This record gives sequence, structure tokens and C-alpha cells, in this order.
Amino acid sequence: MQVTIFGAGYVGLVTGTVLADLGHQVTVIEVVAEKIAKIRQGQAPIYEHGLDAMLARVLASGRFHVTDSASAAVQSAEVIFIAVGTPPLPTGEADLSYVRQAALAIGQGLAQNRRQVVVNKATVPIGSANQVEVWIEDGFGARPPVDAYTVASNPEFLREGTAIFDTLYPDRIVLGADEAWALELLKEMYRPIIEQTFEPPLEVPRPEQLQMVPLVQTDRISAEMIKYAANAFLATKISFANEIANICERVGADVVEVAQGIGLDRRIGPRFLNAGAGWGGSCFGKDLSALIFTAEEYGYRPELLHSTVRVNREQRHRMISHLQDALKTIKGRRVAVWGLAFKPGTDDLRDAPALTVIGELLRLGARVHVYDPVAMATLQRDYPDLEVVYADNAVAALRGAEALMVLTEWPEFAQIPLTQIAQGLSRPVLIDGRNLWTPESAKRAGLDYHGVGRS
Ligand SMILES: NC(=O)c1ccc[n+]([C@@H]2O[C@H](COP(=O)([O-])OP(=O)(O)OC[C@H]3O[C@@H](n4cnc5c(N)ncnc54)[C@H](O)[C@@H]3O)[C@@H](O)[C@H]2O)c1
Repeated sequence: MQVTIFGAGYVGLVTGTVLADLGHQVTVIEVVAEKIAKIRQGQAPIYEHGLDAMLARVLASGRFHVTDSASAAVQSAEVIFIAVGTPPLPTGEADLSYVRQAALAIGQGLAQNRRQVVVNKATVPIGSANQVEVWIEDGFGARPPVDAYTVASNPEFLREGTAIFDTLYPDRIVLGADEAWALELLKEMYRPIIEQTFEPPLEVPRPEQLQMVPLVQTDRISAEMIKYAANAFLATKISFANEIANICERVGADVVEVAQGIGLDRRIGPRFLNAGAGWGGSCFGKDLSALIFTAEEYGYRPELLHSTVRVNREQRHRMISHLQDALKTIKGRRVAVWGLAFKPGTDDLRDAPALTVIGELLRLGARVHVYDPVAMATLQRDYPDLEVVYADNAVAALRGAEALMVLTEWPEFAQIPLTQIAQGLSRPVLIDGRNLWTPESAKRAGLDYHGVGRS
């Protein structure tokens, strides 16, 4: 099928590459010239496992193109995805200006002589499908012919770091459309994924038990709500684990064992129960703010969602409290920070807990040595004035430092022997913001260990 995608970010580029690899003819429209140039050379502007190899393959196949010119790609498409950013405004409301630009361009390029589906894949506030229709009409300059197109909702659930895996083997595909023909077209496009009929790429093999991907067909408003409700639930689950961790610290319980004990209950499940420095990333904070904004717009104050956000904010600051407990004064101390990205497997720093912690350390007068396996370049690029020392490797960051704070659970950190950490630091304080080690093993290595929710 002919597929056009607005936005070559995490969602647009990954979706486009995967759909082209499955045999569709894909054009991605992007407004940033450097991104287009890089992608055309086969270099993904983002770090994602398996993406470079797949991108090289689809470029060579001739089924994947990237351009800044929308009209021909809109006109020839059967399915047009909007996958541009929807960042938060200061009010918490989602900024739809990029969606609007894309919708106007779609209106200008509509084919008219056959049906096209415009799909909101970006996370957009509830009711945005209607809004996008209005902007498409503005771009078209009139009401397009009846049946020329429809707007559907197909929210995206991929996780950065495993974006290709999540696109090929999703837990579910959600399609919200008011027209049966649009649902059929989208099902046809996704058929290889729904039925898992494609040959799995070598770099991202299929999980053994997976046979069919569940499909949720619903109306547009419910599809939009599913996305927000899913992210709000996941963020709440982590904030819940952190709240329990804070109680554990006071009563002498171990939150890792508590999480295991409750997670085995199938009604709860073990995932997203890890206590630590809190959640972050480009989605949870923004989507919670947008859902809270919508709820309040409609006269409802969502107390639980407000608490989810507050607990998370305070949790980041609790990492500094642990450090103060160990070092007392922070001014003039050298502190090593391992992990910048908001989670392992990505170079994305948007709303990363490490940024809050580093900002607070600097404000308190510490010298901060940072190391992250892939996100250092992003920090240098996006925060060029941040006065931190960039270390060449994890162990080098320890040199001269009086404490180590671990803020991202990169697997390679856990491979470094605790004795080496103890020897590398000038004072053996370890703030384990991701509970990578056990208190016993850290203490055996001579470390003054502070985990989250365990002592
Ligand atoms: N990143 C994730 O893990 C994730 C997961 C699920 C859903 N989402 C949602 O998907 C949407 C996109 O997220 P992302 O992380 O891919 O964003 P991103 O910022 O990485 O990418 C968006 C891209 O759109 C481009 N763009 C902006 N205006 C454009 C226009 N008019 N025409 C063409 N391109 C344009 C930008 O230059 C950018 O490259 C957001 O709504 C986000 O909430 C993201």
C-alpha cells in the first residue's frame, strides 16, 4: 500500500521503516533538513536497536523515501499518518501546532478522486480527530467531497529503546474509526503484523509464543482515551511503587521483595513496579498533564493523576536527600552520575530524572562527573552550558568523586564489580537510584550503600 507519514521522529521514522520493510511503499515527510539528509544517507537521527540495518535495507529496496515536500506524497497515499510531536504547553495542554501544520498540508494535497484515511498516530487530546478534520478542510479551502477521506485514530504504544520490536510485535493494535471502510483499509495495512505472516528480521527476532496480535476496534474518542489511560496507568504504577518504597524505608522493609511479592498476583503483574529515581521521558509527564488538563476542562479534578505527578517529582529530589544523608554538605564535593537517559537503550533525555538531579547537585555547589553509554552527546548538544565533566567511561567518572549516583539502569553498570566502584571513589558512597545491587553485596564491597526503599 502507499503510505505517507508526517514526522521522522521516534514514531514516524520507526513506523515508516517497519512498514516499508513489510512491503509497503512509504514516504516520510519531515521539516528538519539535517534529519532528511542523515536518513537519506542511511543514518537514523535517533538511536534505536535494529533501526540502522532496517533503514539501509528499505532505502536500498526503493520502498522508502523521505522528503520535505508533502503534496505529491499526500495525493498518492492511501493511508496518511500524522506522527509529529505534540509537546506540552506551559498550561499542560498539548501543543497541536505541528499537527495543525500537517493537517493543513494534507488538506492541500487531498486526492479527491478516491478514499484516503488520515490517521492520528501522534498522541493527541481527546477530540482531536474532529479538530484535524476542521484543519484539513481549512487546507483544502472548502468542505472536501463526501467520502473523499476520513480521520481515524491509531495511537502508538512503542517504547524508545525497543521501538522496532514493539512495532513488529505489539501487545495490541488499537484502531478507532467511524467508517467501516477506513477500518478495513487499516487492517489490511497492518495484516502482516496482526497475523504475524512476515519473515522476522534477523536483528529483531519474533518472540516464540507470538501468533496473532490482538486488535482493538473502537470509535475515535475511545481510541484517543486508550492512549492517555494506558500512560496514566503505567506512570501511576511506578509512582505507587515509589510511595511503597518510601514507606519501606521508614519501617525497614525491602521494596524489591515487596514488589516481587505483590507482582506475582496476576491481578497486579510484576512489571512497572520498580522503585527508583522516578519515571521520565517524552511521554508520561506530557500525557498526564494533557489528561489532567482535559479532565479539568470538563469540570473534573483527577486527584489520583495529580498525586502520580507529585510523587514522581518528589522522588527525584529524594535521591538528593539520600546523598545529603551520606555526605551531609554537598557544596564543593565531586559526585559521579552514571546514567543520563530516562531509561536504558535510548539517548533521549526529555524529562529525564537525571536532569533534575544534576540540576539540583549543581545548584547545591557539587562538581558533577557524568557518564552514559549513549546519551552524552545529547546532553552536550541540548545543554551546552551545563557545567559538568564528561567522563570517557563509567570507571573514569569515579575518579576523585566522593559519591556515585546511578540514575539509569543500563545493564553494563551492573556488570562493573562493586569492589572496583568502591576502589574508584575517594569516599565509597553509592546512591543506587535504580536498585541495581543488593544492600548486602554493596556493603560486603565496603560501600556506604543507599538504595531506594531498602536499607
Ligand atoms: N517517543 C515515543 O516513545 C512515543 C511513543 C508513543 C507515542 N508517541 C507520540 O508520538 C508523537 C511523536 O513523538 P516522537 O517521539 O516521534 O516525536 P519527535 O519529536 O521525535 O518527532 C516528531 C518529528 O516531526 C517533525 N515535524 C514537526 N512538524 C512537522 C510537519 N509539519 N511536517 C512534517 N514533520 C514535522 C519534527 O521535525 C520531528 O522530526 C507524539 O505525539 C508522542 O507523544 C511517542
